[in-house]
Amino acid sequence: MRDAVRASSPASAWSRDDFPILSRKVNGKPLAYLDNAATSQKPRAVIEAITKYYESYNANVHRSVHSLGEEATAALESARGKAARFIGAPSRSEVVFTRGTTEAINLVATVWSESFLQKGDLILLSGMEHHSNLVPWQLAARRRGARLAFLPVDEKGELDLEAAEENWDPRTRLVAVTHMSNVLGTVNDVAALARLARARGALILVDAAQSAPHLPLDVVALGCDFLALSGHKVFGPMGIGLLWGREALLEALPPYMGGGEMISTVRLEDSTWNELPWKFEAGTPNVEGAVGFAAAIDYLEAADRGALGEREEALSRYALSRLEAVEGLVIHGRAARRGPVFAFSLGKAHPHDIAQYLDREGIAVRAGHHCAQPLHRSLGLTATTRASLAFYNTEEEIDRLVAALEGARDFYR
Ligand SMILES: Cc1ncc(COP(=O)(O)O)c(C=O)c1O
Repeated sequence: MRDAVRASSPASAWSRDDFPILSRKVNGKPLAYLDNAATSQKPRAVIEAITKYYESYNANVHRSVHSLGEEATAALESARGKAARFIGAPSRSEVVFTRGTTEAINLVATVWSESFLQKGDLILLSGMEHHSNLVPWQLAARRRGARLAFLPVDEKGELDLEAAEENWDPRTRLVAVTHMSNVLGTVNDVAALARLARARGALILVDAAQSAPHLPLDVVALGCDFLALSGHKVFGPMGIGLLWGREALLEALPPYMGGGEMISTVRLEDSTWNELPWKFEAGTPNVEGAVGFAAAIDYLEAADRGALGEREEALSRYALSRLEAVEGLVIHGRAARRGPVFAFSLGKAHPHDIAQYLDREGIAVRAGHHCAQPLHRSLGLTATTRASLAFYNTEEEIDRLVAALEGARDFYR
């Protein structure tokens, strides 16, 4: 069956066999990995790129004049160039490597707020944010005496941008919103929100953690000011991600952490800062992560992202139609534009029980609040079960999910 999973387009050269982990068994059953919104699996090209880095050119970067150091530096900076291209950034100096989305958002929430957020100012978020795009702003608002407001989520799981325009608070300084919800799957119209914000003198940060694996990203077309994403959700390793920011904005911000790499000159009493992006990259960077992230980008580009997107959309439509037909199953989030993330409730069965039942069948899904407690509270729930797809999933896996869900429903009835 696995061999049959090849892209239909000849330009799209990928195979499910590229992902070694997908051929393992779990509890005696073939693994059906449906937890891609939490983290994606890695193609062999990524695993081999990391191994090659350690086997042949591992060294610390930037300060070194020996060959290994130069090779490692070249690999790090080439990865930055690829990451810039991946998100349509005008310049690689606007791409700051971070540990992931969480660190990228904390960076902005800390240093931008310190310089530009005044008492009484407002930060506008939405009711569907991941804790990573909520708690850093709570901390910033508390430090600066600022306020938070939230775009409401309607019953379909969409944001009402007209209401946002009508209720706009003139003290709004920054909008921080997710591009794709990790629970509802909703793809938000961040370009429209960016136009709204810009016309009113506010900045906008886009949390692209969930959209990056599924949608082509173009920071210029989106019209955003900051964008954050995690490498591990786009088939790269954990511990690497990026913050993109418009150059003039990044220039105007103070550093985040102090240490090596981020300085130009250091005296006992004070220091001056390195150029962008290194001003924000204190300490030894995650070269291994950057190398793996670059290999993931190469892999996706070679596989033809357009073709992968089409395959995912077809899988997503199939999953939606199959899940909708499961008696007693309620899908949370029915947005017109959505990604392949399905959070649901199933009768009286507890999400953790469902996930455990599915695990016995070799099916990996997630259960809990998915780091979105306020959203769950607004749905009147404490937890949901979530199945999330990547392009390497198959209709057969979705069929297995549906059969196992029917079994779980009957078992816990
Ligand atoms: C929408 C969203 N934002 C932010 C994050 C945080 O990403 P990370 O844990 O990689 O920093 C996640 C992770 O699931 C997410 O789904």
